[in-house]
Amino acid sequence: MKNEWDYGEFKAAFFRRTGLDLNLYKDKQMERRILQLMQRQKKAGYKEFYEHLMASASALEFFLNYLTINTSEFFRDTKVYNLLEEHVFPELGRNFPGKLVVWSAGCSIGAEPYTVAIILHRLKLLHRAEIHATDIDDKALLFAQQGCYNEKQLGRIPAAVVEQYFTREENLYSIKPEISRAVRFRRHNLLTDEPVSRCHTIFCRNVFIYFKPETQHFLLQRFSHALYPGGFLVIGSAEYIANPAQFSLTKRYNTIFQKE
Ligand SMILES: C[S@@+](CC[C@H](N)C(=O)[O-])C[C@H]1O[C@@H](n2cnc3c(N)ncnc32)[C@H](O)[C@@H]1O
Repeated sequence: MKNEWDYGEFKAAFFRRTGLDLNLYKDKQMERRILQLMQRQKKAGYKEFYEHLMASASALEFFLNYLTINTSEFFRDTKVYNLLEEHVFPELGRNFPGKLVVWSAGCSIGAEPYTVAIILHRLKLLHRAEIHATDIDDKALLFAQQGCYNEKQLGRIPAAVVEQYFTREENLYSIKPEISRAVRFRRHNLLTDEPVSRCHTIFCRNVFIYFKPETQHFLLQRFSHALYPGGFLVIGSAEYIANPAQFSLTKRYNTIFQKE
């Protein structure tokens, strides 16, 4: 075998060993990030880097966490959460009298599903809600389950909300059990695992910007299929759906779409 690999060979070898298909992510962006890490770790080429990853579980885990950029915060994009609280969830509460299924797909450290749980609690809908929160990143999920955040991760959350829903211990804020017990966290790969079904709202925010257009298309089809007619899909503020009608979705607000 030749001594040096190109990015394609690295991706193929990586897929064979880990099952994570880097081809589904945007190539340029992903390759740039990997090259940056290789430089930082002083690896001369893809082959040496691959061998380093396969030689230690902690190196591989570090790499996977590095790839799946899990920046998140509570009430990320206040406007969106205001719309959800004032219009979307009350409408769902009226139109669907039974259980309300919410899926936070790519939930990272849990700020997103907990924000949703707080809003549903304020609307007196939390007792009817089943909130599924999934991510591919084990470390982020562990963090989410612990539910303990620093000030930066609390983001734009109003002080009164912090007071009501968190317990402060020095500089850390723990989410109260009445909120945390409403959220079920689980490891799940959006691209290969079965989606959560019969959802009333799906959040997939700041996740699919990393994927190639054809992967985004596949995911949007899946999400649309998983939603009840009248249910909602919420995407990130930097994300865009070209021609939502092809997925039976109608734009209700900027980043909030309703299944027809
Ligand atoms: C930037 S965070 C977004 C967190 C949250 N949705 C928000 O908007 O604040 C992106 C998350 O997507 C997850 N992710 C990336 N690829 C994934 C995949 N194939 N399946 C499931 N989650 C994935 C990452 O692990 C990461 O936690």
